[in-house]
Amino acid sequence: MRNSIICYINGEKHQLSDDKCALMLSEYLRYEACLTGTKVVCAEGDCGACTVLKYNPLDENGIDGKNFISINSCITPMATLDGTSIITVDALSHEDKLHIAQDKMVDCHGSQCGFCTPGFVMAMAGLVEEKISKSDNEINEQEAKNALTGNLCRCTGYDAIIEACKAIKPKEEISLKKRFLSSQQENELKLTIKDGLHIKNSSFEFFAPKSIKEACDYLKNNTNTRIIASSTDLGVVHNKRKIKLNKLLSLHLIEELYSCNEINERYEIGARVTLSELRHFLKDKNEEFVKYLDIFASPQIKNLGTLIGNIANASPIGDTPPALLALNALVEVNSSDKVRTIELSDFFLDYRKTDLKPGEIITKVILPKLLKDDFYKLYKNSNRKDLDISTVNFAMHVRKKKFTIAAGGISATPLRLKKTEDFLNQNELNTSNIYKAIDIMHTEFKPLSDVRGSSSYRRVLIENYFKRSISQYMESQS
Ligand code: FES
Ligand code: FES
Repeated sequence: MRNSIICYINGEKHQLSDDKCALMLSEYLRYEACLTGTKVVCAEGDCGACTVLKYNPLDENGIDGKNFISINSCITPMATLDGTSIITVDALSHEDKLHIAQDKMVDCHGSQCGFCTPGFVMAMAGLVEEKISKSDNEINEQEAKNALTGNLCRCTGYDAIIEACKAIKPKEEISLKKRFLSSQQENELKLTIKDGLHIKNSSFEFFAPKSIKEACDYLKNNTNTRIIASSTDLGVVHNKRKIKLNKLLSLHLIEELYSCNEINERYEIGARVTLSELRHFLKDKNEEFVKYLDIFASPQIKNLGTLIGNIANASPIGDTPPALLALNALVEVNSSDKVRTIELSDFFLDYRKTDLKPGEIITKVILPKLLKDDFYKLYKNSNRKDLDISTVNFAMHVRKKKFTIAAGGISATPLRLKKTEDFLNQNELNTSNIYKAIDIMHTEFKPLSDVRGSSSYRRVLIENYFKRSISQYMESQS
């Protein structure tokens, strides 16, 4: 096993084996590599100021990762970047010529302050890479807005920035992949990640094996270890609450966990599949889920965060659990001596508590396919449409008149509304019974009041989503 990480930053090799592996990428860039173009503002993945681009050769086994993609460097530990190539804003200009994203920001007066601008430019550079790879020379307004939803400006406005993004003609730029990832470097990275990784020093231990079995064996003997996926949550905990991430198990070198497979009536989503890859995979398969993912976090977060991380985190307001619960999804869990499959509705036990036993790892989510005549609707309410945490979320699935309903933000766990389902499944669907179902539904949960909404507001939201879904369902049947 290796005892040091290797990554490339702006085309230069960095090899680390000491405490620096525990730093967040933004800290390493600014304080160790003297690359101060990357700024840190929120340090929790919310503002995009720290955006850099990442290329992971293992994503080639995935779906959408063949390019450099935008990520938040403030919540990404260096150790998890083992085997990747990174580009920062410091390296964008080329032979005294600005990158086209920088150039258009100047032309359109999109650049105001030094805090947000580097992040906006890097998010645009990520979009340019994607466009070059698709030989697409146009960026329309919606594409510009979508690419920039993860970047906040606190003082001026977005119009000039969006105009700058739209003015870019991607073909006029040389791909960053061409400039910063030679085939020799790529081969070296691929060769590097053929071996597992174990860094152990007095204050930090990081284990990244090549197989699920090795991961489970390690966890069995090291139960005080945190499993880290992409740290979009743990990175925030580390930065804000000062909980040190000092003993970690990472699954990032296990190739089989990067795949999405279609098997008979279901899809199997591996533990390393990011939300961006999931969106790409489900396109044309489950349009409603794809639309829902569009209002889930920012592109930077979706390029890092995994579906399994969103489940394992067990947040009552996690965005995907209600959508998965309504489809009767399952999780597959491995330990050193067995594999078990758990219905997601049995997986969430209490606030942030799951049925995952010590020594167990979630390896895949099993997602039943939507059938042609299925009805499936997903809703999310948040204070801001993009890049915000849910106040509540709601999902309804109906197959052959059988209802499955789930919601989040209304109890200690994401919740299946089983009594309501039973009532609807056993009674004729008419106005009087719909109102009875609403009364039953209100007995199934007791929302808390917090900064995102009062208990009564949450009740009103859930009732309205229920009414809207039922009315859409009835319309679809007429
Ligand atoms: Fe705000 Fe990283 S500093 S997202
Ligand atoms: Fe940078 Fe507004 S111009 S935060």
